[in-house]
Amino acid sequence: MTFLAFPFLRSQLCVRAWRWPSVLMSWISTDKYDIQASLGLPPEILGQKPYRNGSGSGVDDLPMTLVSKAMVTGGAGFVGSNYASHLLQAGHAVVIYDDFSRGVGCLRNVEWLKSHQNGKRLSVVNGGVADLESLSAAAKDCDLIVHAAAQVSVPKSISGPGLDFRSNALGTFNVLETARALETDPVLLYTSSNKVYGIPNAHLQEQEFRYDFEGLSNGVDETFPIKGEEPYGVSKAAGDLYLHAYSEQYGLKSVSFRCSCMFGPHQYGKEEQGWVAWFCIAAALGKPLSIYGDGKQVRDLLYIDDVVHAFDLATKNIDRVRGEAINLGGGKENVASLLETIAYLESLTNRKMHLTFKDWRPGDNKCYYTDCSKARELMNWKSTVPWKEGVSKTLDWVKSNVHEVSTVV
Ligand SMILES: NC(=O)c1ccc[n+]([C@@H]2O[C@H](COP(=O)([O-])OP(=O)(O)OC[C@H]3O[C@@H](n4cnc5c(N)ncnc54)[C@H](O)[C@@H]3O)[C@@H](O)[C@H]2O)c1
Repeated sequence: MTFLAFPFLRSQLCVRAWRWPSVLMSWISTDKYDIQASLGLPPEILGQKPYRNGSGSGVDDLPMTLVSKAMVTGGAGFVGSNYASHLLQAGHAVVIYDDFSRGVGCLRNVEWLKSHQNGKRLSVVNGGVADLESLSAAAKDCDLIVHAAAQVSVPKSISGPGLDFRSNALGTFNVLETARALETDPVLLYTSSNKVYGIPNAHLQEQEFRYDFEGLSNGVDETFPIKGEEPYGVSKAAGDLYLHAYSEQYGLKSVSFRCSCMFGPHQYGKEEQGWVAWFCIAAALGKPLSIYGDGKQVRDLLYIDDVVHAFDLATKNIDRVRGEAINLGGGKENVASLLETIAYLESLTNRKMHLTFKDWRPGDNKCYYTDCSKARELMNWKSTVPWKEGVSKTLDWVKSNVHEVSTVV
């Protein structure tokens, strides 16, 4: 038997020689962290630059061999746990750093990651990104940081702007300081948001079941001005701009993804955030839905597998994307309104959903979809999973995990 048969060992042969000690250390120090005990929970609860010219040619899309140890902030959340799972699958050591403020869904996601065949390569740190000391200790020896931790709800950012600021603006600043101090010269990927564009200045048309942009057929690109309309948009934009500054001034290998509506398995969606997953959960469990506004509001839906692929591409091609802010979304091919998503779910479950219409929520865009040309030019990336296929897969995940999902919603 040769150890070249193991993907992780094979990948490490390509890693620069000085990384070997940290790889060995991370094997030795695999954590036996007891997340339930640590949380004290009962066991049953468990101004952007212009486009760079680029053609997508020369983009590296080979299996990832660059990472010896990764930290994923927000790694117990939806995006973070999916990427942590992907990294574990590839044999990398992963630290997830999360304050578990998302609640029981975080515990479910950690249970899922721990049950992974490479779950022993996972360590879990219960901490907030506002705590620089704890964050820096957790990031020791990491050469990839995926920063997905955030206060994610727009309504909560309006009712509690202080928490939003500490989690998102200060938290991202702390992640940058942590990365800057690391001797590993890490790659840093940041999940910014399309909310940095606020409500883009574009005319809309009202159609029977949706709004659409008038004269902006490809959607919003990165040249649109940043103008947060509510605290969440501003705190995410602060992180986004800081990333750019740290790349310019300190040569940090960072990239900011301005993400649209991401969805998929392991998303414990709620009314105020993660609406596609929330609609799937409501459809599967027969729960009533509140619709804020007329339901014709439109988003471009991005399935999680495409997000994971974008993160890989960015890491492997960091010299092409460093310092950039890049839109990541389903794009105009994957635009759906709330009403259209509900109609599709009803066709899948063969059951009408119970809807109650309420007033518009502040800061809610009637129409947003993203132009992803820059991601295509710089990383040869485009979304590949059609929104209906993604919704159907998410619904299947809910149906196969009804017990887990019911304990969370
Ligand atoms: N899901 C989307 O559609 C979407 C769209 C645009 C941007 N984003 C961004 O993507 C990232 C991931 O979002 P998600 O959908 O996975 O959300 P999520 O709520 O599932 O995950 C976020 C995780 O961060 C943790 N967290 C929150 N505050 C923290 C803090 N102060 N310190 C440490 N951990 C903290 C939560 O417990 C949670 O596990 C966020 O940065 C979000 O702003 C998400």
